[in-house]
Amino acid sequence: MPVIIEPFRIKVVEPIALTTRPQREGYLTRADWNLFGLHADEVTFDLLTDSGTSAMSAAQWGAMMVGDESYAGSRSFHKFESVVRDLTGYTHIIPTHQGRAAERILFEITVHPGMIVPSNSHFDTTRANIEHDLGEALDLVVAEAADTALVAPFKGNVDIARLDEVCRTERRRIPLAMLTITNNTGGGQPASLANIRACSELLRGYGIPFILDACRFAENAYMIKLREPGQSSRSVGDIAREIFRLADGCIFSGKKDGLVNMGGFLAINDDRIAGEARNLLILTEGFPTYGGCAARDLEALAVGLQEVLDENYLEYRLASVRYLAEGLNRAGIPTVQPPGGHAVFIDAKKLLAHIPPRNFPGQALACELYLEGGIRSCEIGSVMFGKHEPNGEFVPAPLELVRLAMPRRVYTQSHVDRILEICAAVGARAGGMSGVEIAWSPPVLRHFTAKFRRVERPVPAA
Ligand code: F0G
Repeated sequence: MPVIIEPFRIKVVEPIALTTRPQREGYLTRADWNLFGLHADEVTFDLLTDSGTSAMSAAQWGAMMVGDESYAGSRSFHKFESVVRDLTGYTHIIPTHQGRAAERILFEITVHPGMIVPSNSHFDTTRANIEHDLGEALDLVVAEAADTALVAPFKGNVDIARLDEVCRTERRRIPLAMLTITNNTGGGQPASLANIRACSELLRGYGIPFILDACRFAENAYMIKLREPGQSSRSVGDIAREIFRLADGCIFSGKKDGLVNMGGFLAINDDRIAGEARNLLILTEGFPTYGGCAARDLEALAVGLQEVLDENYLEYRLASVRYLAEGLNRAGIPTVQPPGGHAVFIDAKKLLAHIPPRNFPGQALACELYLEGGIRSCEIGSVMFGKHEPNGEFVPAPLELVRLAMPRRVYTQSHVDRILEICAAVGARAGGMSGVEIAWSPPVLRHFTAKFRRVERPVPAA
């Protein structure tokens, strides 16, 4: 097999910070051992997120220059609308400044106290917006998703039997059902076309609207092409168009597979919901032909949505994530299997089995990766999802993961080779690493601002 190359050459470059270990120790201490507190120019490899961090193409920058910034009826909106309509087939296309704005508007209209919104797994902002409207965000991902070592093609699938059961028993409390493609919270795993078809059929049978959280739809469609019997000869665009047409609408963060730094939309067939959504949009986002975006953002998103379906790009994208995962595994670092579309998730519970969840092995590992070589990653474990009950009892998260998210078209293979060297060095001394404890934390969403300190001696397993 020939080497899979980056299918682009680089026209504009941006320097990255090269720092020394003593400098990084100073920065991390100042940030109270919370990587969100670092300045970006103290970071060499910023793998905190794949969201809003893409490199745009020359065609996208060119399109931005012809953005029509008219308040109403902008030419750029009509261009954007026609690209999104061609892709999704939905009647109403409503721009928003990012994905969570679309979530907020959709749920404000549809979710009332006591209602249930099932999905494979809700992303945290999706869950938080449903809970804000006093609804329940119910995760119904297939059981195999919980086994991080299991190699299975579609660990983002919904458990159809459980979805059927909840629809049958709770029909009146379900305003809509969702599917996150790919399933970010579950490790960037795809749902199969067969599963999406089954959701569609089942929900139509119950008369429940089916809404996709489609941020990473192109990565999901490409994995369907590679992994699902009977799909290999179809184009990714064709598969993506079918996926959207199986649902009744979507929320979309353009900051992922839209290949832009800002922008999103709500797209839906239902006239009533769309009418109410446009009214809410005007309240906080803006007039319906720009939402919360500048017209130039809509231009860039329209181009990005077409570029992302280029199969040479998608082949490179998946290859670069797989290359990182396989390198880590060769260095003895366990990761969620198989590697996802946008990120590699290190299993910190396995790597640092001597550090109990209450000393946050994921957070400890993320800090070590920074100290060793300036990598910024993100803990997805008991800092993010664990709880301290009012009686002081600690409830850990089910998994202790560290996410290395790959920005799109940003880092080259030599960057990844260096990232692997850093991870291998940390992995080699994992057994001697110590955990951390929380020195201060806010009442909600503590991972963004909590302060930590190191627990000086390795703590025996609980
Ligand atoms: N849904 C999913 C599956 C996401 O991954 C995100 C964002 C959103 C919705 C919200 O979109 O950020 O444009 O408001 N995920 C980012 C991440 C933040 O790092 O995974 P947004």
